[in-house]
Amino acid sequence: TAGDAAKGEKVFKKCQACHAVGDGAKNKVGPHLNDLFGRSAGEIDGYKYSNAMVKAGEDGLVWDMETTRTYLVKPKAMIKGTKMAFAGLRKDADLDNILAYLATYSEN
Ligand code: HEM
Repeated sequence: TAGDAAKGEKVFKKCQACHAVGDGAKNKVGPHLNDLFGRSAGEIDGYKYSNAMVKAGEDGLVWDMETTRTYLVKPKAMIKGTKMAFAGLRKDADLDNILAYLATYSEN
């Protein structure tokens, strides 16, 4: 289902301690999330990823609506060894909405 980016902005409060997105977004605890869709996992220069995330990217993981959703449901189930300390988003509506929000900062 199509998400609502305005609602996704509220869901993003759960990400904000670690991630920035939008104009001038910098890496924080986690990498910035600009232009997320279409980029390979572990690709942001100047950000130190876990070995597991680097390997996932080398193995061909590209962030799109589907792969990002799977990651956000249960990060450590999808990428064993990821250092993203986030339990996950369980509500379908929250997932739809956060993906719509991130899409507004992505060209792909
Ligand atoms: C990585 C999204 C919450 C810390 C990532 C990546 C995505 C993402 C897509 C991979 C980026 C890439 O490959 O460049 C989100 C979203 C969140 C969220 C949408 C909220 C729903 C959090 C929170 C924290 C966090 C709360 C800190 C407690 C990290 C870290 C990484 C990461 C440290 C790097 C992981 C690694 O190298 O294994 N996040 N995240 N994230 N995130 Fe999050």
